[in-house]
Amino acid sequence: MTPLLQVNNSPFTQQQIEWLNALLPTLTEGQRQWLSGYLAALGAVGHAAGTAGAGGVQTAATGVAPAALAGTPAAPATVSAAEPKEATVLFGSQTGNGQRLAGQLAKKLESAGWNVALCSMRDFKPNQLKNVRNLFIVVSTHGDGDPPDNAVSFYEFLHGKRAPQLPDTRFSVLALGDTSYDKFCQTGKDFDKRLEELGAKRLVPRVDCDVDYDEAAADWMDRVLEALVRLQAEGAASAVAVSSGAVAQVSAVAAGMAGTAGAVPANSAEPVYSRSNPFLAEVADNINLNGRGSDRETRHLVLSLEGSGLVYEPGDAVAIFPENDPRLVDAVIEAGGWSPEAKVEAGKSGTLSLREALLRHFEITVLTRPLVSQIAELSGSLKLKELAASGNEEAFKTYADGRDLLDLLQDFGLTGLPAADFVKLLRKMPARQYSIASSQLAHPDEVFLTIRKVEYERHGRRRSGVCSGYVAERLEPGDRVPIYIHQNPNFKLPADPLAPIIMIGPGTGVAPFRAFIEEREETGAGGKSWLFYGDRRFRTDFLYQTEWQRWLASGALTRMDVAFSRDTPEKVYVQHRMLERSRDLYAWIEEGAVVYVCGDEKRMARDVEEALIAIIAREGGKSRIEAESVLADLKAQNRYQRDVY
Ligand SMILES: Cc1cc2nc3c(=O)[nH]c(=O)nc-3n(C[C@H](O)[C@H](O)[C@H](O)COP(=O)(O)OP(=O)(O)OC[C@H]3O[C@@H](n4cnc5c(N)ncnc54)[C@H](O)[C@@H]3O)c2cc1C
Ligand SMILES: NC(=O)c1ccc[n+]([C@@H]2O[C@H](COP(=O)([O-])OP(=O)(O)OC[C@H]3O[C@@H](n4cnc5c(N)ncnc54)[C@H](OP(=O)(O)O)[C@@H]3O)[C@@H](O)[C@H]2O)c1
Ligand SMILES: Cc1cc2nc3c(=O)[nH]c(=O)nc-3n(C[C@H](O)[C@H](O)[C@H](O)COP(=O)(O)O)c2cc1C
Repeated sequence: MTPLLQVNNSPFTQQQIEWLNALLPTLTEGQRQWLSGYLAALGAVGHAAGTAGAGGVQTAATGVAPAALAGTPAAPATVSAAEPKEATVLFGSQTGNGQRLAGQLAKKLESAGWNVALCSMRDFKPNQLKNVRNLFIVVSTHGDGDPPDNAVSFYEFLHGKRAPQLPDTRFSVLALGDTSYDKFCQTGKDFDKRLEELGAKRLVPRVDCDVDYDEAAADWMDRVLEALVRLQAEGAASAVAVSSGAVAQVSAVAAGMAGTAGAVPANSAEPVYSRSNPFLAEVADNINLNGRGSDRETRHLVLSLEGSGLVYEPGDAVAIFPENDPRLVDAVIEAGGWSPEAKVEAGKSGTLSLREALLRHFEITVLTRPLVSQIAELSGSLKLKELAASGNEEAFKTYADGRDLLDLLQDFGLTGLPAADFVKLLRKMPARQYSIASSQLAHPDEVFLTIRKVEYERHGRRRSGVCSGYVAERLEPGDRVPIYIHQNPNFKLPADPLAPIIMIGPGTGVAPFRAFIEEREETGAGGKSWLFYGDRRFRTDFLYQTEWQRWLASGALTRMDVAFSRDTPEKVYVQHRMLERSRDLYAWIEEGAVVYVCGDEKRMARDVEEALIAIIAREGGKSRIEAESVLADLKAQNRYQRDVY
């Protein structure tokens, strides 16, 4: 029999080759693929896929998989392929998920011996794009199908006339989103399409991730690594001509990132407690901040972090894994004609009773099209199939708006479906984020949150938000709640303690600014600070009123303007106060102030942005276009940061 490996001038001894030949037939396809890539990377194989390279070793294994195997060196120091192992990972991320995943990809690539430039889209110099050979984009979608703030300038560049042709670029996109939004993963889809239009070659198909993105993202990363190693092994580098000059240029991409803010170390250590391993934090306090007679309920939730080792910074958020309302769970079980004790699979948590699974592990309050079409398949309901059919999006949207699984089961008479199969279709319970309202310097073992209860009446039923309802109605001191810290590098106090800050945060948007001022008080930062805050009524809705007053008196907060929208016949909002203080506000910006906006994304953040543009135009004697460009520059310098939801 012809041995699978033969010696020519290979780096192996005869004995090693014999050992490898004995080993090869015992390997799985995946193991063989890996070995092929590994040998190729070592320079031991001229060409993979069974073709003997000059003076090399021939292997029957084809294709290649992960670059590292436990116990073996992660990657060889030298590679024989003509093309350097260079990759650029760009992320566009508002609340940090994409940034974290981009970091994970960079780390994996580095472990596989790749030289990686990891960079925020905002800090990436677009004129370097044409020099990038292997481009990986991780990007989320926000607003109504819009790019996250730190992706806007790159998005516009790529979709504009100045975008270069990219015939020498390979790429792949990981898109983050949420299937409950109409424009699911729109920004990722846009990047994917545009890169193809510019002539770049898709190395691995785009993956669109729902809120439970871990598995899909990990799978995409594995496929990216496999594809890259396969390219190396196949000598495909030669398919894309790369001059040695380009090597230097690609390296310059990493060196050429504007500023350092977006340059992220790929090797930051993972915390012990994380999204996949949440910490069970004890509730230390849970009080209503609104006064009697208010039509709103806002909980000041204090969680103990004792023993967790968790660290946070102002601007970060805590993510809470909530429980569904037990009354809703029981009603769903009854409507489905199920037994609460029926056994179902709940991923890593194993086999659970249906009630336990629906209480803690699965989402039952959101109807997405993918979910409804799968339920239609399971039930065979023609009416449901029609509702979820493509072309029927508007009717679906109208139906799904404000309805949950209980409505669906009842409206379509879905009873007696196999519980275990039904549960398999549900999305995992997503965690909810809450801006941190405390400084860890002042509260080393605690974290404060400001959570407003979502409550409304729709389709004849009173409904509460899953997490805010859980916190407001059922969480008591002494209870434990699964959390993790969601770092947000895009919403941070300036490094310079003397830099002025302008904080615009009506409603719960004020939460991170409580943390900012507390932190500045602790560190003795001397920079001026100005808060624009508003809510409905002065008497009942002035969150943290006494603390703001104390900080104003002590000088920790320099200035505060408030807008209570329902105390006067005409509504007054924070942007009205900003416009009234236009001259001073512009002067602060001219002095180098960083402007922060937090809270409602749909209306407030847009109107506040309009107000900022109007102020810059009016006070700076600029046209609207020029004022927009000033704001874009502020964004690029990290001097206009938003945390909006
Ligand atoms: C980075 C970030 C920071 C955040 N910080 C805070 C914070 O500090 N404080 C805070 O309170 N929240 C904050 N949020 C929002 C928070 O994460 C949750 O989205 C919020 O608490 C609602 O979650 P829930 O589970 O209670 O409601 P869900 O069960 O998720 O229900 C919310 C949904 O209910 C529907 N809905 C709400 N009101 C109505 C209505 N009147 N009519 C019909 N439908 C309606 C909407 O579809 C809405 O999306 C933040 C979000 C992000 C992304
Ligand atoms: N994504 C989610 O699941 C989710 C869940 C909960 C909340 N949210 C969002 O989070 C936002 C924050 O909620 P919140 O309860 O803290 O505060 P809020 O509803 O934003 O209210 C705070 C203050 O802002 C005012 N306001 C309303 N429209 C405004 C505008 N266009 N510009 C400036 N101010 C405006 C309100 O006035 P009036 O009320 O008198 O008009 C009120 O005085 C909500 O608007 C909601 O959209 C999202
Ligand atoms: C205010 C807001 C708006 C969003 N809009 C969309 C959307 O239009 N389409 C979508 O697919 N996902 C949308 N999402 C979901 C995010 O893309 C998803 O949470 C993603 O994981 C966030 O990644 P990031 O942390 O990197 O920004 C939205 C999320 C928020 C908070």
